[in-house]
Amino acid sequence: MKTIFSGIQPSGSVTLGNYIGAMKQFVELQEHNNCYFCIVDQHSITVPQDRLELRKNIKSLAALYLAIGIDPSKSTLFIQSEVPAHAQAGWMLQCVAYIGELERMTQFKDKSSGKEAVSAGLLTYPPLMAADILLYNTEVVPVGEDQKQHLELTRDLAERFNKKYNDIFTIPEVRIPKDGARIMSLQDPTKKMSKSDPNTKSFITLLDDPKQIEKKIKSAVTDSDGIVEYNREDKPGITNLLSIYSVLTNESIDSLVKRYQGIGYGVFKADLAEVVINTLKPIQDKYNYYIQSDELDSILDQGAEKANFVASKTIKKMENAMGLGRKRK
Ligand code: TYM
Repeated sequence: MKTIFSGIQPSGSVTLGNYIGAMKQFVELQEHNNCYFCIVDQHSITVPQDRLELRKNIKSLAALYLAIGIDPSKSTLFIQSEVPAHAQAGWMLQCVAYIGELERMTQFKDKSSGKEAVSAGLLTYPPLMAADILLYNTEVVPVGEDQKQHLELTRDLAERFNKKYNDIFTIPEVRIPKDGARIMSLQDPTKKMSKSDPNTKSFITLLDDPKQIEKKIKSAVTDSDGIVEYNREDKPGITNLLSIYSVLTNESIDSLVKRYQGIGYGVFKADLAEVVINTLKPIQDKYNYYIQSDELDSILDQGAEKANFVASKTIKKMENAMGLGRKRK
């Protein structure tokens, strides 16, 4: 049994990329581990948010966590801003992090490039993410590939803190799925599928209806030779669709390639649309239940209580190690 932590930002819709890269693993992991799953709303405000939209997205993400199968009797589900320790530990870890290493983060470079006004929070986002993880003595962090660099920084900050102050942090391991760690945009298969992409045809959300899913997969950019083949370099579009198909059905890529030989993209895409629709249907049904149910609030209250209990103990250790305030037990 290991301690697991992961988080998702409530900014916009949750995509099939989030599901395949991260959430699908959460459900498997909660069976035999001590899991914390977080709605990281403080990370969302590193870029501008509409307050009403953000509130809506927080609740929607909570309902989605439950809809994909997170069981509150097995896992702790909570909202980051309801556990003040995250911001406290985030600050302490900002003081351990160097500006140079934060500026080197690819996500910071991507999100800040070409922008005139970039929030300081966008730069100091990784120490807050490190705080999320380290507060719970996390051993394993399941994420998609794009978070690997942030995890490496988390490990560096934990090691630096342990060496400089006191040996209090567990050094977490990253867990990236073998297949589907980087689901690509349907409109530009050389780019990651992202909920912040202005072109909504580039991603499928977990709440898209069957018509939208069919349309988006039908218009997914492929190439013109019509041969269903797995080749990331030369055929990124169809390769991405093959990955999605394979992960959602557990049918191997080899078997799919054989099955669709000589058949062409039209049938393949129609079948994939059906697979996605059938995967999302039960999730959407449960989502519709949870989003209206009073259970949601009490689950989040209980989650925040448990998270606060554990995280505040780590805060005391961190403050004692750094010499903040007065000595406390
Ligand atoms: P976020 O909200 O961008 O994404 C949530 C999770 O989804 C994964 N993911 C993908 N996986 C495969 N293909 C894609 N196209 C794709 N897009 C997103 C991400 O890797 C992530 O696992 N910084 C994090 C949130 C966070 C966090 C944490 C994660 C804050 N604190 C502590 C783990 C532990 C983020 O922005 O994820």
